[in-house]
Order: sequence, then structure tokens, then C-alpha cells
Amino acid sequence: MDRVIEPLFLGRTFDDFLLRPREGAVGSRGGIPLSSRLTPTLDLELPVVSANMDSVTGGAMAKAIALEGGLGFVHRGMSIEAQVREVERVKRSHGFVVEEPFAIPRSATLREARELMRRRGTSLLIEEAPGSRILAGLLTKRDVPWFGDGDDDRPVAEMMTPFERLETRPPGVSLEEAERVLFARRIEKLPLVDGERRIRGLITKQDVILHRHRPSVSKDTKGRLLVGAATGATGDYIERAAELIAAGADVMLIDIAHGHSRVMRRAIETFRARFPDAPLVCGNVGTAEGARFLAELGADAIKVGIGPGRGCRTRLETAAGVPQLQAVREAWLAVGEEVPIIADGGVKADKDVFLALACGASTVMMGSALSGTDEAPGTVIVDPATGQKKKIYRGMTSPQAVLNTLYGADEADLQDALDTPAEGQEIQVPYRGSVIEILKRIRGHLRSAVSYTGCASLAEARERICADPSAWLIPLSEASRRESYER
Ligand code: XMP
Repeated sequence: MDRVIEPLFLGRTFDDFLLRPREGAVGSRGGIPLSSRLTPTLDLELPVVSANMDSVTGGAMAKAIALEGGLGFVHRGMSIEAQVREVERVKRSHGFVVEEPFAIPRSATLREARELMRRRGTSLLIEEAPGSRILAGLLTKRDVPWFGDGDDDRPVAEMMTPFERLETRPPGVSLEEAERVLFARRIEKLPLVDGERRIRGLITKQDVILHRHRPSVSKDTKGRLLVGAATGATGDYIERAAELIAAGADVMLIDIAHGHSRVMRRAIETFRARFPDAPLVCGNVGTAEGARFLAELGADAIKVGIGPGRGCRTRLETAAGVPQLQAVREAWLAVGEEVPIIADGGVKADKDVFLALACGASTVMMGSALSGTDEAPGTVIVDPATGQKKKIYRGMTSPQAVLNTLYGADEADLQDALDTPAEGQEIQVPYRGSVIEILKRIRGHLRSAVSYTGCASLAEARERICADPSAWLIPLSEASRRESYER
């Protein structure tokens, strides 16, 4: 049975509260842990996810945010093949295992090898015959004479370290074992081969070191970056999900405007029958009943937000919506900590991230706050009148974005989409450089907010505030709101 929402939250959203400061408990804010659950099986060190919008998250954004400890949901406004490529781009970019290392045949000449090494800047795995993927040896920069000795037509087989003298390991080797071998043998590359000597990966010292130096990176058990991917709830969505999961997507998102609906029920049931174990986020809902509905259908996380988004016109056009902190609180009271909540939309300032978490969200999804950056899709435009640099941010039901999301839609959905007036809009946002700086700033402000609560971690602050919000949240009057935000 749901707990009844406290009057404190009725009709409330971000600018309605301040946080009551308490005696600080930590010496330095720098190390305050911010880890939080995205789903019951996936934790993030920075509880921020980027919105699955075509002006926010493609592969570049997903990669950057995972490197900072969050996660990106790659939008679906493209063909299945293109979305798969974006997901692969993230999965291949940064693990400590190179999954499909490049290889050249042992008959290739030293000249060809030199040219490839120059262009790729890496060592080369050598295979027995072209395309055989049977490991013959390894050619590193040290194996190639740096001076021209006049015989660049020799086959690389003459210069490489042959398989018999190479240190190799089977795929699935642990990070610790790989590090031990790399160090013990003072080598830089560790090829991974199966029982038939087939090339199954490559571990490099450089990647292992990078991996160690960024402990907050969001990564899977193989050390590859985490990435999410969105689908709709009709049309080709199951085929799309199958391809995305095969490409390595760590968490799927079924995202529709009205997630408390029959369409969603059918979509989740079909998805679960086909992929019983794939982590699945569903949304959007804005009420206790909506959250419970998704929890009972088996969602692993619930995305909450009806109409707070910056590119969103739903409330303006339909009057449907729930003030965002009320929605988050309702959802939390309905599902508690069993199913993590993602607060989606309406974040305008960094303090909003903390407020959403304090009211029950486990992570926060952001669109406009991360748009306008280098990593967001789209090009920088220069306003000819002012010389200011801008990028486009648009709601996913804006007419421009709708055209993009119609890939794979069947005839009825297509007609439905074309007949529905837009509930999203397109705006220009200032160009803001790299998203990494924005994420670092959010991390710093979150840590400060935790320190003002007198708690030692975000998890502790969340737990205590969620349990007794009236002891922590101060509702604002018009005057106190002006005093707080007018500068
Ligand atoms: P922010 O405020 O972070 O919000 O930019 C991002 C979220 O807005 C939602 N969204 C929409 N909502 N019509 C809507 O009603 C739209 O066209 C639209 N596009 C995005 C979405 O939940 C996103 O994560």
C-alpha cells in the first residue's frame, strides 16, 4: 500500500525548497562518495545520466559521461544500424581489453607494417594467413629498425616476436592477472587467444594504467565503458533492442511520453519474455500509480517526469503533468528503494540535481543542461548578428525530432505521429565547450550539498532526508525565493 504524499510536496518543484544546513561532518569535500544505483545491478559514481534525445546523446556524449562516472542513453532517432554503431563506439573506446584488435598477415612487408604503425600509432598483431585470425606473432615499434636498412620488402614474419615466445592469456583474464603478467615480464602488450590460437583480444599496459587512474569511470566487468540505449514501445523496438543488446548496451530504456499505459504494458511484457535478464529502465510516469505500475511489470528503474523538460510543451498544450519534486516523491513513496528512480527533466541549476536525489531519485537525467556542448550531436552555429556560438536543443516530440524517430515505425504509428500536434519545441542554447567541465562542476556542487547536510556520503544524505524530509527541506515564500535566486 502506498504511503500518502506529505503536504510539503504537493505542487512543489525545484525552486520551492532550500536545504537546512547542519553541522558538517567531513574534513574535506573532495572525497565525499556520490555513488548511487541506476538499476539494482548497475551503480554509478556520479548519479547523472544524459537524456536519450537527438540533440543530447550519441556515442560521443555517452563516452564522455561514462568516463566521468555517469551514463548516457543513446537516442533512437536513427536507423538500428546507426544506433548500434554509436553503442559500439562507446563499448570499443575504452575498456582495458581491445575486443577486435587489428592484425596483418605474416606475409605483409615491413614497409606496409611501418605505414600502418605510423597511421594507427600502435603495435600490430600478426596473423598466419590474411583474415585467419590465428595469432602468428607481435610486431612492436622496437622490432622495426628506425633507420632505413634498405630492406623494407622483407615479410614482417622475420622481425616479429613469434607466438611461441609471446606471453598470452585466454579471453576473460582478470585485470589483476593481466597487470601481474605485464609487469612481471616487463611487456606492454598481452594478446588474448583461445584454445585454437585464435585472436580474441588485446590488453595494453597503456589502457590498464588509464583504467586504474580513473577509478570513478562507469565500466562493465571487462572494463569497457557503460552505455544505455533507448527504444520506443512499438514498431521495430524488439528487433532494435536485440541488436543493441548484442552490440553491448548495458541497460535498455523503453521511453514513451505516457509510460502508464497499455502500450507500455505490452512493450514490457514482450521485452521481458525475450530478454528476461537485460537491465530495463521504463518511463515516463509522474505519479505513485504510474511508478507502481512499472515496478509490477518488472522495470529495473523508473523514469519519472511528465512535462518538466526544457524542450517540452506537454503541460502548456494539454495541462497534463506533475510538478517534478512531487512526482519524484510520489514515486519514491510508492516503490521505495526497491526500484531506483531516475528524475528526468527540469534541472536548471546544479542544486536541482541534489534536491531530486534528496526527495527520492537515485539518479537524475539531464537534457538541456548537457546540451550545447562539444559532445552533444549537432554543429555549432554562429549568430551572424551577435557573433555568439550556439547549438540546437530540441524536444523529442518537436516536429524536427519526430521526423527522425520514425525509423522502423509501422504505418499506423507513422500516421499517428504525423497527426499528433507537437508537444516539444526547438531552441538555441549557448555553445558551452566540453561536457566534461559541466560534469565536474556538478560533481563538485553535489559534494558541497552533501557536506552542508552534515552527512559523509550522498547515500547517507539521501537516506536521512528521504526518511524525514520536513526536517531538512524549507519551503520558500515568494520573498524568500526572490532572496535566494534573484541576482
Ligand atoms: P531537460 O529539462 O533536462 O529535460 O532538458 C529533458 C527531458 O525532457 C523530456 N522531453 C520531452 N518532453 N516533449 C516532452 O513532453 C518533448 O518533446 C520532449 N523531449 C524531451 C525527456 O524526458 C528528456 O529526458
